Amino acid sequence: MRTIHHTTRSRGGSGGQGSDLHSLLSEKIVGQPAVMSSILPYVQMYQAGLAPEGRPVGVFLLLGPSGTGKTRTVEALAGVLHGNEKSLLKIDCGEFQMEHEVAKLIGAPPGYLGHRETQPMLTQSKLNSITSERSSLSIILLDEIEKAAPSMTRLLLGVLDKAMLRLGDNNTVNFERSIIFMTSNLGAREMVREINPDFGFQAMAGLQPRNVVRKLESIGMHAMRRKFTPEFINRIDVTVTYQPLTTESLAAILEHHLTDLQAHIDNRLLTRAFDIEVSPDARQFLLDRGTSQQYGARELKRTIHRNLVQPIASLVAQDQIVPGGTLYVELSEDGQRLEMEFDEEPVRAQPALDELAPVRSVRGGRPSSTDGPRRPLRAA
Ligand SMILES: Nc1ncnc2c1ncn2[C@@H]1O[C@H](COP(=O)(O)OP(=O)(O)O)[C@@H](O)[C@H]1O
Ligand SMILES: [Mg+2]
Repeated sequence: MRTIHHTTRSRGGSGGQGSDLHSLLSEKIVGQPAVMSSILPYVQMYQAGLAPEGRPVGVFLLLGPSGTGKTRTVEALAGVLHGNEKSLLKIDCGEFQMEHEVAKLIGAPPGYLGHRETQPMLTQSKLNSITSERSSLSIILLDEIEKAAPSMTRLLLGVLDKAMLRLGDNNTVNFERSIIFMTSNLGAREMVREINPDFGFQAMAGLQPRNVVRKLESIGMHAMRRKFTPEFINRIDVTVTYQPLTTESLAAILEHHLTDLQAHIDNRLLTRAFDIEVSPDARQFLLDRGTSQQYGARELKRTIHRNLVQPIASLVAQDQIVPGGTLYVELSEDGQRLEMEFDEEPVRAQPALDELAPVRSVRGGRPSSTDGPRRPLRAA
């Protein structure tokens, strides 16, 4: 007899060369364990050829406060499945708030005004174009579904239920090889109030994370039921409720952003690239300024942009940085802003010639041994 271990980890298959979907995805989506356990089984079912016929592979509703990773999850899934985070069809439902705007999705019927000009957004060739050699599964993202006009949700009923859509020109589109995500910010404001009743920072003190999620889900679903018909709600396979990000999760997301920033500098500036060293105090400053229950990690992203990316970009534009050197980012004496100093000596060891150029990590703080020529910098 063989023992079969249940696991959500994917071994190879159309996920790509022995890749591990679970660990790849959880590297990108921080602090949301429910995401992996609820989405990946559907992907695996498809990879195993066991997805039901006449239906999309899965229909997901992603609920929760703003900036907790809902939209990011879908892009990250495209990244791990197809090797490109843009390999998905994203429909911003905010652009379909008016009844007549569904024509943009399906095209106008022959004979109608604009029939020839309107290329429908949802065509079979469009769906095929967002698949890859690695996987034939197409990812559809209906972002901020609560903004969609009723005519659009009516149109979606057939897609969610029968995996079929009839276009204006009478052609049909098949969604049996598609996984569909809807995100919603419905109830987000109420969720923030619930998490943080007095806008202090002892958020959720005493509450079990599981209970927090349950509470948030009930707020989100209540708002969904007020907005959508039971028919529509019934077609959702799984609702995933995102948790507010903890300080630890935000710290991990900050590290991701810093690593990405360094990789970006290396890949874009090439021979003009340089190293960035952000001190622990400077990191803490970014975290403190970037923490917001209302906007989640979005606030952190903005804070990094304003305090780090923009000043660095301005230094690069003014040619204040010597290629190969190191830019030290530290907290100012009064703790109110970040200061930058430039050292023309690189701190990192040059990679051996036979090594593949690794993505350099951003180290914390300057090493005490450096005594090279330092220039304090001021970005304009
Ligand atoms: N759980 C998370 N893990 C990693 N990054 C996150 C997470 N949540 C938010 N972010 C960061 O914040 C940005 C905004 O998140 P997003 O997914 O667009 O929020 P929303 O939940 O409102 O859709 C993302 O681009 C990403 O950089
Ligand atoms: Mg979003």
